[in-house]
Amino acid sequence: MDKLLIEGGQRLMGEVAVSGAKNAALPILCASLLSAEPVTFTNVPQLKDVSTLLALLAQMGVKAERDGGTVTLDASGLTNAVAPYEMVKTMRASILVLGPLAARCGQASVSLPGGCAIGARPVDQHIKGLQAMGATVGIEHGYVHVSGSRLKGARLVTDMVTVTGTENLMMAACLADGETVIENAACEPEVVDLADCLCAMGAKIAGAGSDVIRVQGVSRLHGARHRIMPDRIETGTYLCAAAVTGGQVRLTGTQPSSLDAVIGKLSVAGCAVRCEADSIHIEAPKKLTAVSLRTAPYPAFPTDMQAQFMALNCVASGAATIRETIFENRFMHAVELQRLGADIHIDGNTAMVRGVDSLQGATVMATDLRASAGLVIAGLVAEGATTIERIYHLDRGYECLDEKLIALGAKVRRVK
Ligand code: EPZ
Repeated sequence: MDKLLIEGGQRLMGEVAVSGAKNAALPILCASLLSAEPVTFTNVPQLKDVSTLLALLAQMGVKAERDGGTVTLDASGLTNAVAPYEMVKTMRASILVLGPLAARCGQASVSLPGGCAIGARPVDQHIKGLQAMGATVGIEHGYVHVSGSRLKGARLVTDMVTVTGTENLMMAACLADGETVIENAACEPEVVDLADCLCAMGAKIAGAGSDVIRVQGVSRLHGARHRIMPDRIETGTYLCAAAVTGGQVRLTGTQPSSLDAVIGKLSVAGCAVRCEADSIHIEAPKKLTAVSLRTAPYPAFPTDMQAQFMALNCVASGAATIRETIFENRFMHAVELQRLGADIHIDGNTAMVRGVDSLQGATVMATDLRASAGLVIAGLVAEGATTIERIYHLDRGYECLDEKLIALGAKVRRVK
């Protein structure tokens, strides 16, 4: 398994281009299942999770052509509506084929994703919504089996805000008979990007980005071309890396408006952040000020940036509290940061972080995608060498991470 070796202490300086958003690309690639005509996506990030999903779609009969960041998918010849356990277990977002398959084929068998490091990650809201739309849903031998005739529009209210739940139900509603209203819908920018793509394919969707999404079902969707939005979490991750190293970095090809909560916290921490149309420039102070935060659904502070800010607080002056309200077990990076000398106390879903003068490099282990990002950020500022093991987690969600960091002046090396 690959490792990442980081020699801390280098200020990050320069410019880096942001890639397409993983969490927009995954639902949007699944949207290809809704049409019998080819769809072309650009700015698709070259990530492990994207390759995994394309392999899953291919075994269903979807034809894929890939040229760098451009992917054309043709789902005219679907051969089977099954997402097998062996593929789903490596990527939970595979559940996003459930809604499109139920809508397009009238039946689907998708392995239950199971939990992951950060929590149980149930999909009961996805199932409840499809049942409300008239689907017959059974769970046997670890698979969700959906069957029934054409879905019917319904009024759906999810018990909690769920991003992929909203996305699955919105996709299913596109081909349903009548109007579907999704209340308590997720407002994340990735939901809006998916809705924009679906509308380009002929769907009739209003309200994406708000907590009430209305979908008028149509009989079929046609082909389209859609550019994936920039990755706001990748953007936030590099902003934090620049902040902890006292650096000065410009991020290009990004969408500043999708990061207000993160930019607000970086400003409180003492950074000068300047936003232009599609770029963000950050200049960090010598010493950061600790900043408290509470994760919550968009537009509040994103849970996917929590680990990165914990790393930032480890070397800031003062103490801060971090409350994780979305997932039940998303502090696994804390014990690894403590190995680097961080002063962190966990009490339930709240972490108290007291800044220390400096972290000391050590060998640490990545447990999930964003925890790994937090460890990279800590390693960039720790004294001496930090080795991060199991960095396949990073490769799932960050395109060319080592190359991009090296281009900014970091001393980073990937070893087999
Ligand atoms: C999406 O996961 C993202 N993944 C996650 O990013 C992100 O952390 C999360 O949204 C929250 O923003 C993708 O978009 C592919 P949820 P998702 O459904 O949709 C509970 C990353 O690092 N819930 O919004 O799976 C759930 O347990 C990943 O890129 C139910 O109880 O998250 C959680 O506590 C990690 N039943 C809360 O809701 C359901 O049916 C929010 O989960 C669905 C969710």
